[in-house]
Amino acid sequence: MDLAGMKPVGEVHADGKTFSFCSDLCAARFRTDPKRFQGEPLIHLHDVWKVFGEGEAKTEVLRGINVHIWEGDFTAIIGASGSGKSTLLNMIGLLDTPTSGGLFLEGTPITKISDDDRAELRSKKFGFVFQQYNLVPWLDAYDNALLPLIFARNGDGGLRAQMRDRFREIGLGDRMDHRPYELSGGEQQRVALLRALANDPEIIIGDEPTGNLDSVTGNRILEMLIDLNKKEKKTLIIVTHDPHIAERADQIITIRDGKTIPGHRTHAKIYTQ
Ligand SMILES: Nc1ncnc2c1ncn2[C@@H]1O[C@H](COP(=O)(O)OP(=O)(O)OP(=O)(O)O)[C@@H](O)[C@H]1O
Ligand SMILES: [Mg+2]
Repeated sequence: MDLAGMKPVGEVHADGKTFSFCSDLCAARFRTDPKRFQGEPLIHLHDVWKVFGEGEAKTEVLRGINVHIWEGDFTAIIGASGSGKSTLLNMIGLLDTPTSGGLFLEGTPITKISDDDRAELRSKKFGFVFQQYNLVPWLDAYDNALLPLIFARNGDGGLRAQMRDRFREIGLGDRMDHRPYELSGGEQQRVALLRALANDPEIIIGDEPTGNLDSVTGNRILEMLIDLNKKEKKTLIIVTHDPHIAERADQIITIRDGKTIPGHRTHAKIYTQ
């Protein structure tokens, strides 16, 4: 497969095949851990466009995005305000659909599936943490965290019991019956994090998940997310303005003018021969 705009740089020969990558870093990574890069990426966006509005109000926000996200990777998405980071994240998380282009989950095309099927996939595979915590004000912390189980009609009692343990682990054991307005911003964000994890999702998506928090609380939340990536092998995709966070990622996707910047620590396997 030849991905538009990306020139192959690093080449690796394995199993009698040639794998080409868009950067030496990416090729080096393949050499050390080839199994992870075999087969299909967990998420693949191919020439994705997103256009909002029509006529004079038409805005091309994403203009031919190519992204590969491999299972278990920590991917950071960076770029200026208004560059399309949230729009891209919404595509990756199946919250919105591309105007054109291909979106593949484990090699299966997702763009043509029904809204119901997409919603089901989303609630099974993804956990979301946003900058706004969006907790339901009339539910207590425990019920807020369990909402995804209710939406997914997941009757697994084990996950409910596990949630109580998780509240304790995250230092909120005595806050489970508090409503959101009785919690600090950091506590609310931790509840939002527990909610994102309720379904034990494979993929955790964060849109500036620590943006509204002071640096100490923000760092704690971030360390928890990175821990989930490193220890539980959850695929982690976060939008951030913080270069220090991005530097810790396996892959950095930089968006500018609606496109990704090629070769900038992206993990595209460009083609296989
Ligand atoms: N539903 C929509 N209708 C019209 N324009 C939109 C819509 N959603 C986003 N946009 C526009 O698309 C552009 C990219 O928005 P997006 O929210 O993806 O940026 P961002 O990179 O996440 O910015 P920030 O860092 O400020 O959160 C902006 O110019 C925004 O105004
Ligand atoms: Mg945004």
